[in-house]
Amino acid sequence: MTATTGVTSQQEALALFDSEYAQAIARLRGLSREDLGRPVFGEGAGWRIRDLIAHWAMWQRLAANAAEKIAAGTPWPAEGSNLRQFNGVAASLDELNAERQREFDARPLDECFAELESAHRALMAGLAKLPERDLLAPDGPEGIRKRQHDQDDRAMTTVVTQEIPLVDLKAQYATIRDEVRAAIDEVLESMQLTIGPNVRAFDQEFASYIGTKHSIGVGSGTDALQLAIRACGVSPGDEVITVSHTFFATVEAILYASARPILVDVDERSMLMDPAAVANAITARTKAIIPVHLYGRTVDLKPLRQIAQDRNIAVIEDAAQAHGALLDDGTKAGAGGRVGCFSFYCSKNLGAYGEAGSITTNDDRLADELRALREHGQSTRYYHPVVGYNARLDEIQAAILRIKLRRLERWNDRRRALARMYNERLAGSGIVTPEIPADARRHVFYTYTVRVPGGRRDALRKYLGDRGIGTQIHYPVPIHLQQSAEFLGYRQGDFPVTERVAEEVLSLPMFAELTDEQLERVAGETTTRRSRSPRASARPIRARSSSSATPERCGVTARPARASGDFSCAPSAARSATASASASASSCSTRTPSRSATPCSSATRPTSRGATTDAA
Ligand SMILES: Cc1ncc(COP(=O)(O)O)c(C=O)c1O
Repeated sequence: MTATTGVTSQQEALALFDSEYAQAIARLRGLSREDLGRPVFGEGAGWRIRDLIAHWAMWQRLAANAAEKIAAGTPWPAEGSNLRQFNGVAASLDELNAERQREFDARPLDECFAELESAHRALMAGLAKLPERDLLAPDGPEGIRKRQHDQDDRAMTTVVTQEIPLVDLKAQYATIRDEVRAAIDEVLESMQLTIGPNVRAFDQEFASYIGTKHSIGVGSGTDALQLAIRACGVSPGDEVITVSHTFFATVEAILYASARPILVDVDERSMLMDPAAVANAITARTKAIIPVHLYGRTVDLKPLRQIAQDRNIAVIEDAAQAHGALLDDGTKAGAGGRVGCFSFYCSKNLGAYGEAGSITTNDDRLADELRALREHGQSTRYYHPVVGYNARLDEIQAAILRIKLRRLERWNDRRRALARMYNERLAGSGIVTPEIPADARRHVFYTYTVRVPGGRRDALRKYLGDRGIGTQIHYPVPIHLQQSAEFLGYRQGDFPVTERVAEEVLSLPMFAELTDEQLERVAGETTTRRSRSPRASARPIRARSSSSATPERCGVTARPARASGDFSCAPSAARSATASASASASSCSTRTPSRSATPCSSATRPTSRGATTDAA
């Protein structure tokens, strides 16, 4: 459990405590049988993971008793006391634990969890009886928890599971479960399943959060890019400038419009679009520039806007990874270009429980067009002045996103705090840590991505993986070296910074619920390995086969697009639909190929945990 900070009411303190408990239980319940038999590292050494359940049930009973006694007026004894003494229990903690563990060993796991649950409820009831000032004061029960933690107990905060995933969606879900379930239930009771009250409300709330006049909810981030590119008037043969160091969808969306992606290199320090490279790439056919706010850090838009203005070039922000990050002019990502495109893929800072995306803009005409495009181009029901897409956002996802949006700022703050901690712990290790911008609000750390120079990245990744620490490479093969992009004619060596970055980047676990203790362990293992690892040889990175090169998404390997001689959208279904569409739809394309229905639940290490999710 993490320390309780910044709570201002008893209700808030109890809710936080309860949600921390729920998170830890969700993690325990997500483990397989084999995991439960594995040893616990650090404090609690000699225990197996299943012993934590017994220990915790025992601790909750002691704490509940103590809380009741304090509420009844028994004064907390002098420094140095502990819960056992306060409760009048003579046995040592080890004896109590051993006894409880023996009992629990003989019983089915569900019964053990039920006992833990009832012990926890007793503690919550005990805490609720305390006077507010005692609960919030440093020497109140929070102090009890602290003392218990420091002196009496083998830390409850011992990383409850040995595995630390790259992203742990279950941990977040545990904090909002009741609200989410109620919201889903409400949608199902209403049976209004696509664009309805939740989509309309979310569109308003998200626009107001980003600071734009409009937000148009769509089916995914790829839909957002595809519709935005189309609405900005990009036509077959037009050029659209973007980076080679991005997730594949940025470029896919350009190809869906039958336009030509012009790729540019990134800046060495920020790993983001290099404005000088953009200036060099402009031609008379340039119709749009797509800066990608990769990893959650925003690209400087001022120089790009300068390049774009007077040439009627649209700046389309790919803000799929930057929900809430500030731009160089102090507005939010998504409010700085003609349109902003967001993904609410499940692992994102603001993630749906399925697929979702949004387009933000201040342009009324564009907003109307986008609203029509997301629903088959219809103006009113069954009247289709243009050929559009099925790119609707559904009501369940919108309802979930509304709940999460209210917490986004807090979650982003926590991500920034974790990034600062990582940077401190990894300083001097030879690992290049991500720069924290002068205005820290310009980065929301969708991923915490370091660089491991000297050809040692893959060995470090394996080392961490063997110790149950999830990592990912964002991204291993630059777009210009992807097999499906060969027809664009780029070669190895065209973008030296991008290629170097692809060989060195490694994303470490990052999600708002990551505990300080988990971070310490990741940083500790990372620095230990760095000081011992031998130098590995560098390897060429052009991707010839999709098997090792395509990024994993929620356990689904992205389907590689077919190489094509022209710039039309590669998937054949999309192409034939394009061909059959009305001739009046000049730049018509179709919705992106549908994704597999595989749930967002595959682990980076596809072993035991069901809650781990690869960031896209
Ligand atoms: C930079 C970037 N662009 C576009 C997308 C596409 O978004 P989605 O996966 O929601 O289609 C992603 C998503 O994951 C992304 O990271």
